[in-house]
Amino acid sequence: MSNTIRVGLVGAGFAARFHLHGYRRVYGVPVEVVGVTSRSAESREAFARQHGVRAFAALEALCEAVDVIDVCTPGHLHEALAVAALERGKHVVIEKPFTGYYGSGSADFRGDLFPKETMLREAMASCDRILSASRAAGRRVCYAENWVYAPALQKEREILVKSGGQILWLIGDESHSGSHSPYYGSWRFSGGGSLVGKGCHPLTAALYLKRVEGEASHARQPIRPATVSARTHQITRLQTFRDAGFLRTTYEDVEDYAQVHLTFDDGMVADIFSSELVLGGVHNWLEVFAHNHRTRCNLNPIDALETFNPKEEQLRDVYVTEKIGTKQGWSKPAPDEDWQHGYPQEFQDFMEAIAHGREPQSGAELARDTVAVLYTAYVSAERRGTEVEVPR
Ligand SMILES: NC(=O)c1ccc[n+]([C@@H]2O[C@H](COP(=O)([O-])OP(=O)(O)OC[C@H]3O[C@@H](n4cnc5c(N)ncnc54)[C@H](O)[C@@H]3O)[C@@H](O)[C@H]2O)c1
Repeated sequence: MSNTIRVGLVGAGFAARFHLHGYRRVYGVPVEVVGVTSRSAESREAFARQHGVRAFAALEALCEAVDVIDVCTPGHLHEALAVAALERGKHVVIEKPFTGYYGSGSADFRGDLFPKETMLREAMASCDRILSASRAAGRRVCYAENWVYAPALQKEREILVKSGGQILWLIGDESHSGSHSPYYGSWRFSGGGSLVGKGCHPLTAALYLKRVEGEASHARQPIRPATVSARTHQITRLQTFRDAGFLRTTYEDVEDYAQVHLTFDDGMVADIFSSELVLGGVHNWLEVFAHNHRTRCNLNPIDALETFNPKEEQLRDVYVTEKIGTKQGWSKPAPDEDWQHGYPQEFQDFMEAIAHGREPQSGAELARDTVAVLYTAYVSAERRGTEVEVPR
């Protein structure tokens, strides 16, 4: 590897854009985003032109030019792309969901009707193939879970460690009015619904904090997930749902509401919610109830800025916050949403981890535990909430 860490993006959509901005804010470690590849020549060339990088027709050519492959494609491609890059000796960054189960490739696959135990087994096998490829190549796997790096979460990490806190209960949520991505809503592309697409964020944050607590304790061992009870629902597909046009409703075979109750191996608990049913902007938060403190981590919205706008058109060219719907009336514009969501901090950690040969804060083990809980939750939901053990 040359001194400068050279990065190649796979995917030229929403995530690729904020990853590129994240890499460009890294300091102290020289980093260059060299190029991008994506499914269509049109999208990768437009992305390359707009951001001053090179467009590559295929992953193989991109691998020749870089040290790190950053996978920003829909979830069903994560494993194949990551393993191909690792086998070529590249470090990888993988967006959420790390990996999962996406069916056998047939267009009539219905995730909501498919046996969930098989899904869980296959999703774990997929994780293990990525982890084995990483070990065989001696290259890092960085799991792009930005919640781990959000300043609110990292401040709680400091409070937890320095106060010697024991977390008794966590409760968290990520919800909004529905994903923009055309791939979202079909299990064969997204590996699940609200739980996999949104619940993964507060879930990984909860798993991360319990890991940190365990590693900071006398035992010096991460505290890991033990059992799950979960329910999922398809609310916008109920005959009784009254569509007023504000929520996305075009889901094929995935849930739009999920609730997960999790126990850890020290007996403590977490409750994670996720849905596509929430108006008024992204609703992202995690609350920590410890034996010696209580913290509410607000990721979005935050109230660093509060604006009253009497007329919608006045803020036409002003970005306010994700999925806000309207800019009229009171709103809480994000002064720097990328920072508040932890994106620049995430790429800073990944690049330092690769440069200095250490594990990132959000690495493969945390990613694997996340996938294990998500798919165990589907097994439990299939059994209408029965408690199920998380595979280790
Ligand atoms: N962490 C976050 O906050 C966050 C936010 C949004 C999306 N994501 C994740 O990022 C990933 C991408 O989501 P998105 O919103 O950018 O989707 P998107 O639809 O905007 O972009 C997907 C990109 O993948 C490319 N692609 C599809 N098939 C490909 C292939 N075979 N080879 C190469 N490129 C291919 C498409 O051309 C497109 O450029 C998903 O895993 C999603 O869950 C994470």
